[in-house]
Amino acid sequence: RYIMIYLANSREMKSIDTYSIETLGIPSAVLMERAAYATAVRICEVLKDTEGKKVIAVCGSGNNGGDGLAVVRILTTMGVSSAWYMAGDTAKATKETALQIKILENMKVPRCRSLDELTQADLIVDAIFGIGLTRPVEGNFARTVEAINRCRAIGRAAVCAVDIPSGISTDTGQVLGCAVEADFTVTFGTLKTGLVLYPGACHSGQVFVENIGFPIEATDQARIHTFAFEKEDIVRYLPKRQAYSNKGSYGRVLVIAGSKNMAGACFFSARAAYNCGCGLVRVFTVQENHDVILEKLPEAVLTTYDSTLVDMDLLDQAIEWADSVVLGPGLTCAPYAVNIVAYTLKHCKVPLVIDADGLNIIAGNGSLWDSVPQNTVFTPHLGEMSRLSSMPVGQMCLDLPKTCREFAKNHGIICVLKDARTIVSDGANCFINLSGNDGMATGGSGDVLSGIIGGFLAQKMDPLTAAAFGCFVHGLAGDAARKEKGAYGLLASDIIQYMSKIIR
Ligand code: ACO
Repeated sequence: RYIMIYLANSREMKSIDTYSIETLGIPSAVLMERAAYATAVRICEVLKDTEGKKVIAVCGSGNNGGDGLAVVRILTTMGVSSAWYMAGDTAKATKETALQIKILENMKVPRCRSLDELTQADLIVDAIFGIGLTRPVEGNFARTVEAINRCRAIGRAAVCAVDIPSGISTDTGQVLGCAVEADFTVTFGTLKTGLVLYPGACHSGQVFVENIGFPIEATDQARIHTFAFEKEDIVRYLPKRQAYSNKGSYGRVLVIAGSKNMAGACFFSARAAYNCGCGLVRVFTVQENHDVILEKLPEAVLTTYDSTLVDMDLLDQAIEWADSVVLGPGLTCAPYAVNIVAYTLKHCKVPLVIDADGLNIIAGNGSLWDSVPQNTVFTPHLGEMSRLSSMPVGQMCLDLPKTCREFAKNHGIICVLKDARTIVSDGANCFINLSGNDGMATGGSGDVLSGIIGGFLAQKMDPLTAAAFGCFVHGLAGDAARKEKGAYGLLASDIIQYMSKIIR
């Protein structure tokens, strides 16, 4: 399995919780206590000076509410002025939550009876729903969420969400009805997918992941299947350089890209492949791009063709030469490009990345699916994915991990579904890319990504890791570029330039 960040969905998280409690015998009250203590400590850190500050926890009747009530008790014992408000029906409280209510009543901790009292808080703890949210938030619950958001919007109170902001789907990050907007979220055990997928990520604020004592075997048996890279993984996964090596040791990438007036696509893809360490890059493009490619990237080997009469022998030789192939950036969907794509799909025996017009050509020529090799990496953005799958973008967005995973599974490919949070799946495991930023939404950015993935494939990385790790490196380079240049005017060439820096 992978050594990296785990991202749990609600089923996996419940499985960790239940296994810890029922199989291993850790009392639920112990887990609740640790969750609440971790949250209380974070709240004190955020409030800095708690003198004269007031905290109110808004609690549901499930165990997320129980966590919130325990937070109030712990803060009270720490000397922080705290109160509680029940959003859920007290009569329906779980036994753990009922116990927390009883203790607060015994301690005579003040209870708020009206939402108007929330305006007295400096910090509101959102503990209405956690991972147990199963349907849209409506009625009184919706009014409570709106009251919390109002207090935050007018600058009256900061908001701390317990585990996940109420109203955010743990699995998809979608807002179910309405959702709390938090300044920070204290989550337990592992990150949840809903905390990193948009719009959930915007609702969560800063996320703290707290260890509350789930044993490792509880996490292992849950078979979490969604992961994310972190910065340290660069060193772990980057192909190693050897003193005793030559350019043949680091793989040959063939970039089949570009068209008349689209020289940039092949340049970006080819340059990015070089920048991630591969030994040789060949560009296969129209003859009109000959001079510009030679001038911009003299390191590339160049094979050009006449688009009015493509010499398939040249293409065949180029494919034979390669250790990996990038197919499609800036290719157009002209009939000659369709022939190139069809020929490559049929004859390519090495790992293949299909991007941009390569995807559009397959979307427009369904019979080509029959020749797509297993484990080919597809890199569609949402528009391309919609064309490939005939699914409206709005429907895809309801559950992007599922869309990505099912598409990959149905076609036996690796899917890189590009969005503000790119998702990568082989049909079983999923990666959610946590690097990257809005400045990267610019022409040529996707060409760079396909070149990086092609470069890692040529260096013998397995297709799923090459795709996911490629997205991560691409995003980190974009983050470094944004830090120095800002989001406006960030160019694909900046991403390429900063790739070397972040890898170094
Ligand atoms: N409108 C109204 N009610 C709703 C809605 C909605 N839109 N969506 C869900 N609900 C209800 C559910 O039906 C459920 O009520 P029910 O039990 O009567 O069916 C309730 O909300 C569940 O809400 P949650 O509090 O989110 O879910 P749960 O009780 O599973 O607790 C948990 C979540 C385990 C606390 C989680 O957020 C967490 O990991 N906390 C930290 C770890 C912890 O404290 N673990 C020990 C807890 S004790 C234990 O698990 C047995």
